[in-house]
Amino acid sequence: MSPQSIPPTTIVIFGASGDLTQRKLVPALFHLFRKGQLPGETRVVGFARRPYSDDEFRAHLREGLETLAGGVANPDDWTAFAARINYVQGDLDRSDDYRKLEETLARLDPADRARLYYLATAPEYYATTAAYIGVAGMADQSRGRRHIVIEKPFGRDLGTARNLNAALHAVFAESQIYRIDHYLGKETAQNILYFRFANTIWEPVWNRRYIDHVQITVAETVDIGNRGGYYDHAGVARDMFQNHLLQLLCLIAMEPPASFQADMLRNEKVKLLSAIRPVDIADTVRAQYNGYRRHPGVAPDSTTPTYAAIKLYLDNWRWKGVPFYLRSGKALKERISEVDVHFQSPPHVMFNLPPGKDLSPNQLSIRIQPDEGIRLQFEAKRPGASQETVTVAMKFDYDESLPGEPLPEAYERLLLDALRGDAALFMRSDEIETAWRIIDPIIAGWNAPA
Ligand code: BG6
Repeated sequence: MSPQSIPPTTIVIFGASGDLTQRKLVPALFHLFRKGQLPGETRVVGFARRPYSDDEFRAHLREGLETLAGGVANPDDWTAFAARINYVQGDLDRSDDYRKLEETLARLDPADRARLYYLATAPEYYATTAAYIGVAGMADQSRGRRHIVIEKPFGRDLGTARNLNAALHAVFAESQIYRIDHYLGKETAQNILYFRFANTIWEPVWNRRYIDHVQITVAETVDIGNRGGYYDHAGVARDMFQNHLLQLLCLIAMEPPASFQADMLRNEKVKLLSAIRPVDIADTVRAQYNGYRRHPGVAPDSTTPTYAAIKLYLDNWRWKGVPFYLRSGKALKERISEVDVHFQSPPHVMFNLPPGKDLSPNQLSIRIQPDEGIRLQFEAKRPGASQETVTVAMKFDYDESLPGEPLPEAYERLLLDALRGDAALFMRSDEIETAWRIIDPIIAGWNAPA
């Protein structure tokens, strides 16, 4: 991908004094800048309430790079990048402050070229910010492209997601809106598409005739830290299932799109999500880790689940009757994100296996993180005279097969795509709403009086 395919863009970060900007956005932009993947004329303008000068804002971002994102490596690179950064102090609730922002943007780029608005604010400001951007005439694309990136959570149920979509659509066309799910920016998640659709050998067996069940696991060792205020009202279903787990399910189970083009891909994902049968509450379990209620911001009698596992079915030709098990939780023993495809047992066993021994069905494991790679387990003959089998594995490991090609951060890829105007890895309004249609009844079922 060449920098030429990205127009010179001013990236405006709303809520720029927060954690996301310091921890993820600016480090990702800086790495892209250093690698020469951004046009030299790229600008970053932060907009937030804190009274920073340009230099104070730059120092705050640099501190983030040093303490949270592995440092700047070469200080000259940082100096060059920092010169492209500005700050506008403003209140997300004040229309006048957007006009002030617009004046600064017009001064910094008199040619009025492309802009990418990034909403890194608290979610309750998404609709307000979009509305004021509209009032200030900042969504108008007659001079340059105006795209907007929205972070998760996108609503907290179907109703609020619909309202937010309506608020965005009042100002922006759907083609201007980029809803982020950072799991789609992970190389290994994207590799599921390459694994399935850049090879011929999987497609014939990728269905209910050969696959027994599929497990999707996103296990975390981290707890909720200081995010109690948000998390206690969200819980694992909203925080992880509605977005990341359902997205992984889409990649694993959707039909092949005709091209890697945004709407082709998203049409298939919506079709897949629409095929999910309403989940039976008896097919779910949930739990809360010990000590959860002691976090600041968490109600002392909170029943918010931090772990859940659900079994679901897809009512379509490919997957009828194949259970998909999705599970995710915090404060668990191990950090593993993985998709495991369990194949059926061979229909007939011709070997004289030792008593009590059976063949282990083939298992394909796609490891999203850590130790990224793919592993296929199969049966082999145990050396010797008996007919005993042993389970062995074929492995692809990124580190081993592609040394010196580090996996880029999800945000780098997603920011590049948003700058290029490629929405393939971002979620469309109907996709978000369909996902909530699956998750809402599960949460309602959990909250229903016993
Ligand atoms: C975020 C959730 O979307 O994803 C967090 O809000 C979670 O609760 C995080 O920890 C997990 O992302 P990753 O990239 O660390 O697997």
